[in-house]
Amino acid sequence: MLRGFSNKRNHLVARTLRNAAEQDVCPKAYIGQSQRCERVAKPTSNNEIPQGLAYENWLSFCMTAGIHVAEMRFNKPISNANEIGGGHRENRGPHMMRKVSVASILALVSSQAIARDDLMMSARQIFRPIPKVLPAIRDNPVTPEKVELGKKLFFDPRISVSGIISCNTCHNLGTGGVDAGPTSVGHGWQKGPRRAPTVYNSVFNVAQFWDGRAPDLKAQAKGPVQASAEMNATPDHVTKTLNSMDDYVGMFKQAFPRDTPSVSFDNFAKAIEAFESTLTTPAAPFDQYLNGNASALNDQQKAGLKLFMDKGCSSCHRGINIGGQDYFPFGVVGKPDAKLLPTADKGRFVVTNAVGDEYVFRVAPLRNVALRAPYFHSGQVWSLEEAVGIMGEVQLGTKLDDKERSDIAAFLNALTGHLPNIEYPMLPTRTNETPPPSLGR
Ligand code: HEC
Ligand code: HEC
Repeated sequence: MLRGFSNKRNHLVARTLRNAAEQDVCPKAYIGQSQRCERVAKPTSNNEIPQGLAYENWLSFCMTAGIHVAEMRFNKPISNANEIGGGHRENRGPHMMRKVSVASILALVSSQAIARDDLMMSARQIFRPIPKVLPAIRDNPVTPEKVELGKKLFFDPRISVSGIISCNTCHNLGTGGVDAGPTSVGHGWQKGPRRAPTVYNSVFNVAQFWDGRAPDLKAQAKGPVQASAEMNATPDHVTKTLNSMDDYVGMFKQAFPRDTPSVSFDNFAKAIEAFESTLTTPAAPFDQYLNGNASALNDQQKAGLKLFMDKGCSSCHRGINIGGQDYFPFGVVGKPDAKLLPTADKGRFVVTNAVGDEYVFRVAPLRNVALRAPYFHSGQVWSLEEAVGIMGEVQLGTKLDDKERSDIAAFLNALTGHLPNIEYPMLPTRTNETPPPSLGR
């Protein structure tokens, strides 16, 4: 065990290394200017560590700390990192460490040397712009017919038992894809325990919900319909409602021509997933920057980006969605206030039942984050600067000063992209067969 470092902390570093290896990037660039390495590596007397030395010290830290994941990754040349695959923390024993080859270390150091000099280059190793083409979806080819149908379903409150609540009630596309908060209010004025996450760009997340319990959007879409505190309906209510309106039946036939019947709860979810896959927000200033336009970010935003990488935020918030890829404790170094982290909600523990997953949540994706206060799964923090400060303290053990907080917030503002132009859809007219709204149970 390393002095001053908790197991959680080691775990964090291990995750970072693994992520870096998976993405085939130098871990040092990956965690910015390696704030963590420098803390761990003994600084020289003048407190400056030559980059290469810091890197090696850092590598030996990983070895002494017994971070097997890291060494497991690095025992192959980095160019093969993608083949190593898998996501398990395996303990393969110290003999594996010796296999770290000199060639792979050199490869890492040289790629890091390039990254060191160039903010844009380092950023490109960690983040990805939102693709201009819409993403493909597993087991659900996206067609214009499905998207059009899914959009109507997203806005149709008659899916809910009360006839009042649509997906858009809690994921309002006009307010960043979220509701007013702090946590969602659903059927019968019931207050749910968590903040609504945004539906914009959710297609890029590794799994859905704060705890990642739904593998994809089609699985996700079935949840809120049936949740008693959300739409309080049943699959039966949904298909009955849809079958009662010929226009819907016709649209399902066009969207799912090979299925009999084409109206089903599964296809309802697939249509919504297809629509949600179109809710991407490309061309944020940060995307333009990643695509090579150096003036797309102003100086303060660049300073914020640099801090975001140097301080270590980007070890968790990375990739296309600047998050949404990994799971970490909310409170790696310090425990957040009980108001922010209510003890009853144990996060991912409920999904995996693994003790290490208590109070673990999916790293929040930060695209368009400036549009959707309040923050965190508990929705208790209304200012972005404050949220940034809290993250510094509880995830990294760093107290950010006012300027650092506002620089990082300025960078986060550059993550606001072009939101799609959404025309409110006209919905099929009810018939005598359409179940009437019910406000009771
Ligand atoms: C009553 C409010 C409410 C309604 C209605 C609602 N949601 Fe949600 N939605 C939430 C909350 C709260 C969460 C987070 C729950 C959690 O993490 O346990 C969520 C999570 C999601 C997510 C996951 C996003 C992410 O980043 O993980 C998606 C996608 C989503 N909802 C889509 C929908 C769709 C589609 C509908 C309509 C069928 C819908 N929601 C109806 C409140 C609502
Ligand atoms: C160890 C991983 C980790 C690090 C490091 C980290 N975060 Fe986070 N971040 C998370 C997780 C997990 C959440 C979700 C917390 C929750 O609400 O349960 C989150 C949430 C957030 C949110 C709230 C977003 C929302 O939609 O509510 C912001 C803003 C944020 N982080 C910014 C930062 C900044 C800025 C830094 C660096 C100072 C940082 N994070 C460092 C893991 C991390």
